[in-house]
Amino acid sequence: MSPHPAPTAPRPPLRVALAGIGVVGGGVVRLLEANRELIARRAGRSVEIVAVSARDRHKDRGIDLTRYRWEDDMDALVAADDVDVVVEMIGGADGSALTLARHALGAGKALVTANKAMIAHHGLDLARLAEERDTPLKYEAAVAGGIPVIKAIREGASANEIARVYGILNGTCNYILTQMERNGASFAEALGAAQAEGYAEADPTFDVDGIDAAHKLSILAALCFGTRLDIGAVTANGIRNLIAADIREAEALGHRVRLIGMAERNESGLYQHVQPCLVPADHPLAYVPGALNAVVAEGNFVGRLFFEGAGAGAGPTASAIVADIIDIARDEYGPAFAMPVDSLDAAPVADAGARVGKHYVRLIVEDRIGVLAEIATAMRDAGVSIESFIQRGTDEEDGVVIVLVTHAGPARAIDAALAILAKSDHVVGAPMLMPILAL
Ligand SMILES: NC(=O)c1ccc[n+]([C@@H]2O[C@H](COP(=O)([O-])OP(=O)(O)OC[C@H]3O[C@@H](n4cnc5c(N)ncnc54)[C@H](OP(=O)(O)O)[C@@H]3O)[C@@H](O)[C@H]2O)c1
Repeated sequence: MSPHPAPTAPRPPLRVALAGIGVVGGGVVRLLEANRELIARRAGRSVEIVAVSARDRHKDRGIDLTRYRWEDDMDALVAADDVDVVVEMIGGADGSALTLARHALGAGKALVTANKAMIAHHGLDLARLAEERDTPLKYEAAVAGGIPVIKAIREGASANEIARVYGILNGTCNYILTQMERNGASFAEALGAAQAEGYAEADPTFDVDGIDAAHKLSILAALCFGTRLDIGAVTANGIRNLIAADIREAEALGHRVRLIGMAERNESGLYQHVQPCLVPADHPLAYVPGALNAVVAEGNFVGRLFFEGAGAGAGPTASAIVADIIDIARDEYGPAFAMPVDSLDAAPVADAGARVGKHYVRLIVEDRIGVLAEIATAMRDAGVSIESFIQRGTDEEDGVVIVLVTHAGPARAIDAALAILAKSDHVVGAPMLMPILAL
């Protein structure tokens, strides 16, 4: 028998309602209009926007929305009989976005979302609701924007046990780091450039403190390891404390500084950490420029997979959302986290202090006799073995920059050494600690 059934009557259009018509929502309208014919051929049916909703009906969004029904009340999208899929593009972990998501799934509508904060905090509950109602919950755009990494891990790599997933999960931070690299800019100057280019919000906290990357990492970890999503178990250190000298010293050591989200499952449990790291200059992550994102997943049969692309922006994010809509139009969907919620494990949190590796430590110290000996003593007392000690006479506002590279040892020992040094009157400000990744 032919695997291709004879053509039957055309399927009815898939009817979509859009909630939130900002950067992402506007991109989805444009994409669905521009690629309408192609999408209908690929999906086997047409995809029609039937209704839209946002806060301000009269706002000029640079797109013609008059052909779509406007609803001031988002719940009207859920209540409408002519809506099959609700696309949530509002944002925020809770509030209107979560209410809409719960109502839509509860009513048996398919839900597509770009909202990493909501999935990171409420993904399990939403997935359970979707399972109970046997309706799709899709969130490709929530992780690494336009990169189809959810699909790749959920489907393409689904035969593999994945030991480790890591990557550059925040384009704003990567833009700032590459500005610092190229221009020798300070963090503040590079952040200003990112804001001027529209890559960073006026309040950049979520991005530069690693919170946004933590949301995405927790989602990737659940998918890769079959574990219960647990945003509370992800630790995040951002890039605020980096200075220009860190970027230069990393380069002199044959590395580049990248904000890396890494999740690893080992005998002790699940490790999930976002932090600036030294990445070897010959690793593909060191070449990811500007606001791009990249994800590496290591499968036990496929080996290392590397995905790179735009992690944000109207076009790339819309591309991911519409791919989810096309899957729904084809009836191609399954459990949100690749297995039923009840099959996900509750992995214990791994002991981060036991992780062994080399570390980069940068201190700013007062320029006086005895300070170097004090640092060396603190390291010795904490059991940290120093591989190199670098003092180039680089002055920061308040003192002199000292960089140490340690031999491989447990993170716990470095933490103990820095706790001793935190009490010193000669160490100025917070030290910068970065793992030197052996990838
Ligand atoms: N921007 C990106 O590149 C990107 C990439 C990946 C994922 N995402 C995610 O996509 C989502 C949307 O991001 P965005 O950049 O498009 O945001 P945005 O430009 O700020 O748009 C948000 C939209 O939601 C509407 N809205 C906000 N609060 C609302 C409320 N309480 N009730 C009803 N409507 C409300 C706004 O209405 P008004 O326009 O009337 O104010 C606006 O249309 C977020 O979850 C974000 O994390 C964004």
